[in-house]
Amino acid sequence: MFDTVIHSGTVVTATDTFRGDIGIRGGRIAAIAERIEGGERRIDAGNRLVLPGGIEAHAHIAQESSAGVMTADDYYSGSVSAAFGGNSSFIPFAGQHRGQSVDDVLATYDARAKRSVIDYSYHLIISDPTENVLTEELPRAFKRGITSFKVFMTYDLMNLGDGGMLDILTVAKEHGAITMVHAENNEMVKWMNRRLAAKGLTAPKYHAISRPELAEEEAVNRAISLAKLVDAPLFIVHVSTAGGAALVQRAKLDGAKLFAETCPQYLALTRHDLDRPGREGAKFMCSPPVRDHATQDALWKHIQAGTFESVSSDHAPYRFDETGKFTAGLDAPYPKIANGMPGIAARLPYLFSEGVVKGRITLQQFVALSSTNAAKTFGMTQKGSLYPGMDADIAIWNPEATRTVTLADQHDNMDFTPFEGMALTGVPEVVLNRGQVIVEHGELRAVEGQGRFIARATVDLTGKPGYRSKELDPAQNFGAEIAP
Ligand code: URP
Ligand code: ZN
Ligand code: ZN
Repeated sequence: MFDTVIHSGTVVTATDTFRGDIGIRGGRIAAIAERIEGGERRIDAGNRLVLPGGIEAHAHIAQESSAGVMTADDYYSGSVSAAFGGNSSFIPFAGQHRGQSVDDVLATYDARAKRSVIDYSYHLIISDPTENVLTEELPRAFKRGITSFKVFMTYDLMNLGDGGMLDILTVAKEHGAITMVHAENNEMVKWMNRRLAAKGLTAPKYHAISRPELAEEEAVNRAISLAKLVDAPLFIVHVSTAGGAALVQRAKLDGAKLFAETCPQYLALTRHDLDRPGREGAKFMCSPPVRDHATQDALWKHIQAGTFESVSSDHAPYRFDETGKFTAGLDAPYPKIANGMPGIAARLPYLFSEGVVKGRITLQQFVALSSTNAAKTFGMTQKGSLYPGMDADIAIWNPEATRTVTLADQHDNMDFTPFEGMALTGVPEVVLNRGQVIVEHGELRAVEGQGRFIARATVDLTGKPGYRSKELDPAQNFGAEIAP
């Protein structure tokens, strides 16, 4: 009566660890019991951990940057790499550039995403929130189940300004959608760029200097204040500073409808990696930049304390050549080198090894950070946990296997990995998406295009009481009806 039975494994969810067998039928978990007989296929998970498949909630796939540089990974290679890294689904970005209609953007990404081997959705990126976008196109996207979008507080071609942020936060709130924000103060960064350029300091290492910790902290604080003013949900992406994380923690204590993530690069790398010889440092350029060891320690503490819902990769694969990092030339100054690094396959092995194996986080926290919380925050109601009725999105991990990170085992279209040479313990050996084995002991079993678009629910705000600004409360503002 089962298509597949995973037996003899240790099942882990965000709350529990237990010995159990899982019976899968029609792509879903049909039963979990101490012992399940039968099954057309039986997968032995003895001495293995059986976890919800990872959900990668921050990846740039088949996406043109605002400077027009296309990522090296398309939906095939990006999803294959994700699958080898223990993921059963992902939510890359569908980026609107100024002047583009959101409907057209989504049509473009629908065509690109057809190649995915894992289930997918998109977060929109909104850089041009026209009246039509706010009143027609975004609500239409929400109805389709695309219930999240990212906005920028930095980059001249992307940054919405505070008024634009308030407008779009309000629209998102009205529809149960969630605004994600890249929080860095644009003027601080531009001021630093001008100062560095005036002194001729253009090597990659100055990228890390040009985007100060305070630029993130100021913008995180402002983004939280803007969201609190209109009591809208907000997700702060790729938090890279201790100060930014502390602001998130504080605002959560105050009840704000706030969510946040950090990324492995902020735990693994420092600005000294940008000071490697020659152009090598460009491999480690991302925004916000990687920081220092004290920041890494602080971010781990915030992971432990629950400040972050997720640890996401921010996979932004620009190759180390003229198609990627160096479209402006091999000797381009740092402001013209593409920002971003790959990491979709390394995210979970890194978090497992440095987090679980080193005793920094529990297995339950690992599951929450890698899958469950993303499912809840971004409305993937069929994913992120293991119980009857859920999609059979499962990763079977060997918690003791060791591996040294190489480019080859990233299975992406890149020509480097910033995690090269790191010794990690814990390998996702078998990965299933809706009951289909997609990766098995280093072999790809999925076929191009078998991933499905997942229409997502609205954001789950359980446990987030919110914040009521007196001035927006009709009982206190002389009845002014100026916000929902
Ligand atoms: O440097 C990065 N992170 N590039 C990707 C775009 C973004 O802001 O997430
Ligand atoms: Zn960003
Ligand atoms: Zn990103």
